[in-house]
Amino acid sequence: MKHHSDRLWSAVIITALSAAAVSAQPQASLNVEVNRTKAAASPMLYGLMTEEINYSYDGGLYAELIRNRTFRSDWSGILNWYLIEKGSSSAKLTVDNGDGPSAALHNSAKIEVTKADANSPAGVLNEGYWGMAVRPNTRYRGSFYARSSSDSALPVRIALVADQSGDVLASTSVEVTGTAWKQYQFDLRSGKAAASPENHFELTIARPATLWLQLVSLFPPTYHDRPNGNRIDIMEKLAAMRPAFLRFPGGNYLEGGRIDQRFDWKKMIGPLVGRPTHPTTWSYHSTDGMGLLEFLEWCEDLRMQPVLAVYAGYSLGGQVVKPGPDLDQYVQDAIEEIEYVTGGPETTWGAVRARDGHPAPFSLHYVEIGNEDNFDRARTYDGRYAQFYKAIKAKYPNLQVIATMPVKGITPDVIDDHYYKREQGMFEESKHYDATDRNGPKIFVGEWATREGSPTPNFGAALGDAAFLTGLERNSDVVIMAAYAPLFVNVNPGGMQWSSDLIGYDALNSYGSPSYYTQVMFASCLGDHTLTSSLAGAGERFFYSATASPNKLCLKLVNASSAEQSVAITLQGVGAASHTARVSTLHANTIWATNTIQAPARIVPVNSTLKINGERLPYVVPPYSIQVLEVTLK
Ligand code: AHR
Repeated sequence: MKHHSDRLWSAVIITALSAAAVSAQPQASLNVEVNRTKAAASPMLYGLMTEEINYSYDGGLYAELIRNRTFRSDWSGILNWYLIEKGSSSAKLTVDNGDGPSAALHNSAKIEVTKADANSPAGVLNEGYWGMAVRPNTRYRGSFYARSSSDSALPVRIALVADQSGDVLASTSVEVTGTAWKQYQFDLRSGKAAASPENHFELTIARPATLWLQLVSLFPPTYHDRPNGNRIDIMEKLAAMRPAFLRFPGGNYLEGGRIDQRFDWKKMIGPLVGRPTHPTTWSYHSTDGMGLLEFLEWCEDLRMQPVLAVYAGYSLGGQVVKPGPDLDQYVQDAIEEIEYVTGGPETTWGAVRARDGHPAPFSLHYVEIGNEDNFDRARTYDGRYAQFYKAIKAKYPNLQVIATMPVKGITPDVIDDHYYKREQGMFEESKHYDATDRNGPKIFVGEWATREGSPTPNFGAALGDAAFLTGLERNSDVVIMAAYAPLFVNVNPGGMQWSSDLIGYDALNSYGSPSYYTQVMFASCLGDHTLTSSLAGAGERFFYSATASPNKLCLKLVNASSAEQSVAITLQGVGAASHTARVSTLHANTIWATNTIQAPARIVPVNSTLKINGERLPYVVPPYSIQVLEVTLK
């Protein structure tokens, strides 16, 4: 995977700046004892957290182009679909609530065409998720379920059409045969069309007939060419973050507003036609195309460990399942979910996974019980956590069981802490774990973000993030994992439910915020242990961390001040020889500076090299800048 920052790599040699350089900040001194280990650093520190929010999957990572492929409707009619009556044709579009291809999808769109011919076709149009990306010379794979009112073959024309010009960018024809529900597959191939999101999908017929439709789907090429897969541009951005794990499926999305709106994993596996879809906590409906196996395959594609959050009997609207017999079915559901993930094909749920196309089990080390259970006003989490913990440990003694808050009566393996603060708050939180008891549970910072900027964070937020991350790195013997949240936002109007999201996109393009690049940089160099070090004389807005592996030293320097910071760095123990450092810098002129979908690369890492002669390095960290120095140790 080629990193954006690599493209910007330049062979510039920065000469070590004189300590006498002009500085509005007092001179600081930073002493790093390169051969003195302080503690082990977690190899899993950097990962991802994800849920269906801000059109993260539908209209985001999940590459489906058709919006509302299952024809949900409200008082205004079928959402996101429109009737086409070209020329002199005449047709009606309604929902047939009693007829569908499966028990899960028991409705359909009924298109009654009373008048149509080759010059005047009629049918339906889908608007996509704020448009549909069409790129030149690209193959789109589609399918739909259909039946017609007669046994004779009914030709159906399918096309991708440019919104403004009406140009047909790709088209094909499929014959629907008979009155029974069947699935039809098709391919569309675009020609020379310029890449654009301003397109839509049309399905038309050219003679009077009645057609029932369900699960109309269309996918562009996907990452690793997976069927029902993910957008390539977004997956590549995630790969550049080198994430070690994926926490899924939430977040509030796991819990649902009500129990029957939780992430009910058994309804989100197997063929799409067997998935009923469900309303989410974030005010829109999920297709559930991103089900349990798709999350696991996402992990497989990016070599991430799954951190599986299981529903724990609390939903956001306040519904709680009491610990005891009432909770047993949910505990059993979690046990079976773990078996679906980890069981061999000879196990009941491992066999279901094999049926779903993945015979090999996934490895799993962490299971999280619920999400933010401190919101449970009935205060039942102690009992609920204990019930899950005991059942999981009885069957899977090696699994680490994460609690979402401190619990009484049992010591959790790991506790999940969340931080959403402004820049100043995150500067303060950078010290949060400095005094944490090393004999207690490990910490998973399962959600965190500096919340400045919308839809994606600005540079001030990136500075807060970087400061916070230096604190996590410094304490990465106890903080074993951390994940920013939310990860994604569709930047179109109405796409966002939560501001300050790491990666933004529309139907065609995606971009990383300054906070995104901060994480790319921080994860690019992380040692396997922290070093003994000390800082004196720096301004209050200066932060750092020092980790190392046998062959490299990783120094993170964060200057969140508007003035440069001189630092006399001593790399104690590196010896008299010269060393080369690779320096990555993220800088902006103001804390309001940011990237956008129109200007995605205003703030990106700039790479350079630095020669270090011996142990002493007089250095100046520029104002408003985040730097990662990777020093090769001989
Ligand atoms: O990240 C957005 C929301 O913040 C998550 O769904 C929830 O866990 C937290 O409150």
